[in-house]
Amino acid sequence: MTVFSDYAACYDLVYRDKDYDGEAAHVCSLLSAQSLNAGTVLELGCGTGGHAVPLATRGFDVTGLDRSEEMLTLARQRLGHVEPALQRRIHFAQADIQDFKLERRFDAAMALFHVISYLADDGALASALACIRSHLDGQGVLVFDFWHAPAVLAQRPETRERTFEDANTRVMRRMRPRLIADRRCVSIDIEIESMDKLSGAVRSIRETHLMRYFDGDELRDALHAAGFDVHALSAWMSHAPPTEEDWSACVVARAR
Ligand SMILES: C[S@@+](CC[C@H](N)C(=O)[O-])C[C@H]1O[C@@H](n2cnc3c(N)ncnc32)[C@H](O)[C@@H]1O
Repeated sequence: MTVFSDYAACYDLVYRDKDYDGEAAHVCSLLSAQSLNAGTVLELGCGTGGHAVPLATRGFDVTGLDRSEEMLTLARQRLGHVEPALQRRIHFAQADIQDFKLERRFDAAMALFHVISYLADDGALASALACIRSHLDGQGVLVFDFWHAPAVLAQRPETRERTFEDANTRVMRRMRPRLIADRRCVSIDIEIESMDKLSGAVRSIRETHLMRYFDGDELRDALHAAGFDVHALSAWMSHAPPTEEDWSACVVARAR
């Protein structure tokens, strides 16, 4: 299954209103609570680099990994628009987060915007966590958000359709989810019609994304098995415990 390949071309338009700067500030506050105020960060599933620049602005040296070359091409283009001093603090590389080796270690690792939910079975999660652990310094901090099982099961995923537009492009995106409860996953068929406003040319994109939802206890167990202890578990962009209202939750773990 190829995901975030053709989709990459309209990703930044679809998420144009996402508050990457505010999210980076929140993650920095979580790191600061672990006494980490600057240092090196490994960003897993960095996508088009929306968090990398605000993280670098806040004092971190960022290495972003992603499986999708198309997303990384856009991330590198983004760097072309930032000042050279920041550019030098950000690097992107193609890798699968389940199996990578960088020959160096980091003060922190993070995976933001549901990247960990793309690890759709126990083996994939265990491989990724072991790989991440081997790239962290002794007390390294790991932060990631994930689909929160109690909310997914209470609210149930629904078909959604939205249109996104800028001066050049109009994108219609329809997402049809299907709950696969025995695998604790949601399979989402994504249909995109992207129209170039000038030429009228229309491009159709189809991808299926398999997303896993987790509850806190299963993540605590998986993290413990990989050499981490969980220090905080909260609703995303909050410091409160996640409830059935919170589709997205966030873990802060420390290597031991
Ligand atoms: C929802 S996007 C989030 C991108 C970025 N973090 C953001 O906030 O915009 C999920 C990203 O995870 C990447 N991804 C998913 N599974 C991956 C894997 N096994 N290895 C590397 N990247 C992966 C995808 O290519 C995609 O760029």
